[in-house]
Amino acid sequence: MKIAVPRETAPGETRVALTPQAGAQLAGDGVEVIVQAGAGEGSSIPDDLYRDAGVTIAPDAPSLYGQADLVLRVGRPSDEEIEMLKPGTVLIGTLGVLSNPQLAVRLASAGITAISMDAIPRITRAQSMDSLSSQSTVGGYKAVLLAANRLPKFFPLLTTAAGTVRPARGIIMGAGVAGLMAIGTARRLGAVVEATDVRPVVKEQVQSLGATFLDVEMTDEEKAQAETAGGYAREMSDDYKRRQAELIAQRVSEADFVITTALIPGRPAPRLITEAMVRSMKPGSVIVDMAAEAGGNCELTEPGREVVKDGVTIIGLTNLPAMMPGSATQMYAKNVQTLVSHLVHEGRVTIDFGDEITRGATITHQGEVVHEATRSALGLDTDRAESSSGGAGR
Ligand code: NAI
Repeated sequence: MKIAVPRETAPGETRVALTPQAGAQLAGDGVEVIVQAGAGEGSSIPDDLYRDAGVTIAPDAPSLYGQADLVLRVGRPSDEEIEMLKPGTVLIGTLGVLSNPQLAVRLASAGITAISMDAIPRITRAQSMDSLSSQSTVGGYKAVLLAANRLPKFFPLLTTAAGTVRPARGIIMGAGVAGLMAIGTARRLGAVVEATDVRPVVKEQVQSLGATFLDVEMTDEEKAQAETAGGYAREMSDDYKRRQAELIAQRVSEADFVITTALIPGRPAPRLITEAMVRSMKPGSVIVDMAAEAGGNCELTEPGREVVKDGVTIIGLTNLPAMMPGSATQMYAKNVQTLVSHLVHEGRVTIDFGDEITRGATITHQGEVVHEATRSALGLDTDRAESSSGGAGR
């Protein structure tokens, strides 16, 4: 079996799906690993390091795809890349089919078995394959560094001969994987941090990182409704949103930086920061909107761009992990390697729909869209599909 790793083609993408170490772990026992020349360049991995690890280098995309049985990617393939794949090829990548279900249709009609990293169920057994978590960890860290870099003042409290410097005040909205990493990073830099989330269970985690939890008053019914069985947030009632907005408006006007990470799987990102709230902030303040790709948590975010509105810098960059490709690639490659080891037996990929991880993450197989949530997004009958196990498949 030949495992192929292309050079990513999306603008600004610096990551690669496999490191030399991960490639070396997968090679052997009838498995050959082939990497496209220059694929690791953005992550500072020269071709020679792959060669030293026993990986073959293919000169270009057509020669790579032409011999591939299993393709490992970071992002979605372009239409041109799909055309280069042989029918029957297995493709693993972060496909985000729920926000682009037509991609699943194209992959199915090309006869590709597509497996999406972002649809892997968030179960304990699959934690080491969970690239949503690993890449959110990188993103949460980088978001704080971007804020610190743009903020015209220190994060920490300083008592110096030149006077006392008060610490920066920050708010983190959404305390999932990215938000908790952002809280920890901002605290380590010495900022005073407040955080908010619709899921009351995260209060203790926020406090254990030394931040204050901004509690929106909730009825027992709202507490029970805020979270799905899988641990994800649900969209809240208009009344809750009003109470949350009142609390946030007051705190935001005193903040030096705000990092927003709030997401609801399969829905547009909740709007948490209005234009009026941005206007209430001090000039020089910074907002990093990690939900930019899903429409943004801030009304004034421009996805993919950094803008200044009313003196407030609003950063809506959509691929923060690509800004720290060393660690992002290392972690993503480990996630991919673990998934491949899970799927490959005796030199062949086994698609076993009896396995919860495979069932949750497989989007297309044998010419059909099999992923239940994707079928539903396409308006296809969902009865024929094997029941999906709750991967977000964003
Ligand atoms: P996410 O990226 O879907 O959302 C980020 C955060 O935004 C969440 O904490 C969510 O509650 C919050 N949020 C949504 N709407 C909001 C609003 N209107 N206001 C304020 N906050 C809002 O979340 P992520 O990081 O993917 O984590 C989701 C869940 O998955 C968590 O419960 C996490 O503990 C769980 N998880 C489980 C894993 C496992 O068992 N293998 C691994 C990683 C995460």
